[in-house]
Amino acid sequence: MENSGHQLRCTGCSRVTEQRELKADFRCTECGDLYEVVYSSWSSGFAAAGTKRPNASALRWLWKERCSSNEEADQSGVWRFREMLNILRDEKNIVSLREGNTPLYLLRRAAKSTGIPKLYAKHQGLNPTGSFKDTGMTAALSVAHELGYEWVACASTGNTSAAMAAYAARAGMRSLVLIPEGKIAWGKLSQAMDYGALTIQLKTDFDGCVRVLAEVVGRAPVYLLNSVNPYRLEGQKTQAFEIAEALEWEVPDHVIIPGGNLANSSALGKAFLEMKHLGMTAKLPKISVIQAEGANPLYRAMQEGNGEALHPVEANTRASAIRIGNPASWKKAVRVIQQTGGWCEQASEAEIALAKAEIGAEGIGCEPASAVTLAGLKKLARQGKIQPHETVVLLLTGHTLKDPDYTIAYHRGDLLRTDEVGVLQAEITATRRNAVELRASADEVLRELEKAENK
Ligand code: F0G
Repeated sequence: MENSGHQLRCTGCSRVTEQRELKADFRCTECGDLYEVVYSSWSSGFAAAGTKRPNASALRWLWKERCSSNEEADQSGVWRFREMLNILRDEKNIVSLREGNTPLYLLRRAAKSTGIPKLYAKHQGLNPTGSFKDTGMTAALSVAHELGYEWVACASTGNTSAAMAAYAARAGMRSLVLIPEGKIAWGKLSQAMDYGALTIQLKTDFDGCVRVLAEVVGRAPVYLLNSVNPYRLEGQKTQAFEIAEALEWEVPDHVIIPGGNLANSSALGKAFLEMKHLGMTAKLPKISVIQAEGANPLYRAMQEGNGEALHPVEANTRASAIRIGNPASWKKAVRVIQQTGGWCEQASEAEIALAKAEIGAEGIGCEPASAVTLAGLKKLARQGKIQPHETVVLLLTGHTLKDPDYTIAYHRGDLLRTDEVGVLQAEITATRRNAVELRASADEVLRELEKAENK
């Protein structure tokens, strides 16, 4: 990794630049759009004349082989794919918590109920801080470390801040977290505190935190770790490599992803495009993005004008991770949906809650934002956009313990208003498992057991 060999290309005007020329807000100086990382030796439309592309089958073998190594970089499910994220000058600067290498589960019950036997969940909640953010954070924070920054910062709905705080602590760096007051799940807030971040709650929403932080990074030597940072996406790409690897390099027909700030969908899209470009895989999956009905600016943009323009909304959903009204990476998400032939759908509060309970009942569980994937899948299948014989992967982005208040309120019947439940009443009632309080008596417990048996 001596000479990192990457450049940055603007996704708006295609201007190519070097790392040292990036502005603190990662926006293009010409058109204000976001950058993506490109590799001079092999990126699509970018390879220098006469360069040799990496050998796909040799790489697949090497990545698998690294799983049995004791080296820190090899044990990371991000850095074992380092040939695809050549963003550091020196491997010594890697900051890792052994992220990635998460399981791809068959969702047996949901496969039956949706009539799609090959229905899988890629569980990114099983990362060190409990969300997919770790895969991107190890990449971008390592870059910050290599560049010699002391402070890193992010605005967050919770998971990014938890991941950033942990990785900064590992590197001996300091971190500043801006979060919307009272609007993030306690599990996530507690993580940022536990890992030692300067944690500031602002009296605004996520979009307001982003605005404040943009000014802060313009005025202080603080490295921005929100997903406008293109290095985050390079780490997040590895989720797609793992999916392909777990399916023996047969790409699934569909990958379904929750949409918030809309960076993750583009990270997966970039990865699948790169794998195909290098001859590692034969086709692209259709990538679909699902938003919460109350935070659906991309859904509206796609319905109203095929993704030409996005009008910010005032976001409101209990799936607090994706409570975002003005997503930074929306153009990248539109491009991925269109390049892969996927869709953007939305899910109501009741549909999300039911889907979360169903994923919980598989013994897998996830946080509310992740459950939009199953809710969206049901809709896409009903619309005939997903066929029963197809292979589908849902990306579960966060762990169920991130937001236990939500889960408990659901099972107690306190989460949703009657007008929100509507036609889902019967299904929701069937999935609820309210905890029972009894006297300390075996007789009473046995009576409960019998009741449960006859249910
Ligand atoms: N799922 C979870 C659990 C998330 O935390 C997020 C984003 C998303 C999905 C959406 O991903 O933004 O790339 O479209 N959380 C960010 C945060 C915004 O601050 O933790 P996206």
